[in-house]
Amino acid sequence: MKELIDKLYETQELERSELLLILNNFNADMSEYLFDKARFVSKKHFGNSIYTRGLIEFTNFCKNDCYYCGISRSNPNADRYRLSMEEILSCCETGYELGFRTFVLQGGEDGYYSEDKVVEIIKGIKSAYPDCAITLSIGERSYEAYKRFFEAGADRYLLRHETATDEHYNKLHPAELSLSERKQCLYNLKEIGFQVGTGFMVGSPFQTMENIAEDLLFLKEFKPHMIGIGPFIPHKDTRFLNEKQGSLDLTLLLIAILRLMNPKALIPATTALGTIDKNGREMGIMAGANVVMPNLSPVSVRKKYSLYDNKICTGEEAAECRFCLQNRMQKIGYELVVDRGDYKE
Ligand code: 5AD
Ligand code: FES
Repeated sequence: MKELIDKLYETQELERSELLLILNNFNADMSEYLFDKARFVSKKHFGNSIYTRGLIEFTNFCKNDCYYCGISRSNPNADRYRLSMEEILSCCETGYELGFRTFVLQGGEDGYYSEDKVVEIIKGIKSAYPDCAITLSIGERSYEAYKRFFEAGADRYLLRHETATDEHYNKLHPAELSLSERKQCLYNLKEIGFQVGTGFMVGSPFQTMENIAEDLLFLKEFKPHMIGIGPFIPHKDTRFLNEKQGSLDLTLLLIAILRLMNPKALIPATTALGTIDKNGREMGIMAGANVVMPNLSPVSVRKKYSLYDNKICTGEEAAECRFCLQNRMQKIGYELVVDRGDYKE
């Protein structure tokens, strides 16, 4: 096991069979060894700096019906909302004062936000905060739409592949969605010039270790600038309500493996990780993550952006989360920095 971890550390890659050996046999001892190495690599590239992104969840309308997601179109209990341009800008204003220099605009796939509207929002934010980066996380759109968003000033795009195995993808999504479309979007985004983030859920229903190995190999091949992974957490209004949530230990193990495979990638300790364990985000950092993404959405809509149950920070103001995370990171020897936190070659 130790030899495999050393090989991964030295060469940044492993064969499928070697990945499976680690995934199927990991234990606490070996995790410590792996986390130390991953943290060492993260420290080498980022020091004790943690980048922050202010997350603005601007719409929970969605035309899709992903089986795992609480804001999918067929959930009649979702209380739908959209933020106006003014509300979005006011989130940015609060965020800027708190030291955020990246804003992540995340939402369901909501046709109300036409290409023109998205362009207008990007331009509005960029003209008010020219020193900030904008990350979009609004799902699948055409090549031309992505290009317009990039030309309007968007810098980055998050679009998780969710799982790199077709068969598994089709068990998590209705037939109108496909892994090949999703991958095409990712390649389009990269070609256009975005810093691109992708990733997957850990412990999603039907997921096997073989699926996870495939995810790791896909990420190695695609070379994303950002990699977001978090545990699957059931949502009460979805068909997966009775499924098991993803494992903390496996998520941490994967963060560490991903850090060793992709030394310079921006890897967040996600809110979902903080939701399944009160120290989840700290443990994510200690396993090699280097980004946190606190919520900047107005408290009035926080609970409504419910992808999964029991999400943390739905009652806290943006400032509370910033300070809370600042404290949490300081306690483990890290600092939140005021920086766009771009990917660096
Ligand atoms: N549990 C954990 N993560 C989820 N996501 C969506 N639904 C859930 C859930 N039930 C993740 C998906 C999506 C990201 C925005 O949130 O991976 O890409
Ligand atoms: Fe929101 Fe701790 S990060 S309260």
